[in-house]
Amino acid sequence: MGASTMAEITERKQVRADKKNPRVAGKVCEFMPYSGREAFKRLRTNVLLALGEDKAKGCRVLGVTSAQPSEGKSTVTINLAFSLAELGKSVLLLDGDMRRPTVHTTMGCQLSPGLSEVLSGSENLNKSLIRYKSSVGETSFDLIPGGQIPENPSELLNSERFQKLLEVVSSAYDYVIVDLPPVNAVVDAVNAAKGTDGMIVVIRENHCPRYVLSDCMEQLRYAKVNVLGFVMNGCVAGSGKRYQYGRQYYAEQYRNG
Ligand SMILES: Nc1ncnc2c1ncn2[C@@H]1O[C@H](COP(=O)(O)OP(=O)(O)OP(=O)(O)O)[C@@H](O)[C@H]1O
Ligand SMILES: [Mg+2]
Repeated sequence: MGASTMAEITERKQVRADKKNPRVAGKVCEFMPYSGREAFKRLRTNVLLALGEDKAKGCRVLGVTSAQPSEGKSTVTINLAFSLAELGKSVLLLDGDMRRPTVHTTMGCQLSPGLSEVLSGSENLNKSLIRYKSSVGETSFDLIPGGQIPENPSELLNSERFQKLLEVVSSAYDYVIVDLPPVNAVVDAVNAAKGTDGMIVVIRENHCPRYVLSDCMEQLRYAKVNVLGFVMNGCVAGSGKRYQYGRQYYAEQYRNG
């Protein structure tokens, strides 16, 4: 067993929305410089390797989480969805962070109807589906925004309805990628994990103390979540320290695993 670093995403210069790309303002890899696009391609490759391209298994469901807020989960989720779609895979992105939904903001679509309404039964799936189409290429994928913030997000992700939803969408997509809240703050990600084939843990460099990451990994291990690996985010290009955190953690935690 092991979890190592799957990709390193460099700190992006803040890009203002321009007239051509008002929606995504440099946050989606098609508008990133070469190094940003390559980083997400590397992540894609490593995800495909980690999951194995077993056609018989059909759709694969992936969760993206972190130990604490603002580490870059939503950024990684969106760009992994884009990268897989670029390969010609059919992809559905679910904004499973119903407490702080942000996918709709980055993608420039409405918040609701979305996942919270689908899971509470007040809206049907088709009405909440949105198609993201690249404005500069052929790439496209589907997404379901978070919906109005519900009172019981962790219960919704723990519900039969969520498992049923994953079953239904699994018959229509190659990959379903779920953006989830941070593990140390709330139980949502752990609850949602049982419907996934694997989880990616995003770590923002110089942001997440070691003991906080340890608590997160302990929680995921206790819940027997299949952690595919770490994504190091906000790395400083050329610092030479980029993989250190994940690697050290990996070495210490899993040496005897
Ligand atoms: N590599 C990066 N370079 C520059 N800015 C980044 C990078 N990754 C993320 N950000 C910015 O940091 C902020 C938080 O990122 P994001 O929303 O992806 O994190 P999150 O983990 O989903 O946060 P939350 O816990 O609130 O859901 C956003 O404004 C995002 O644009
Ligand atoms: Mg987020």
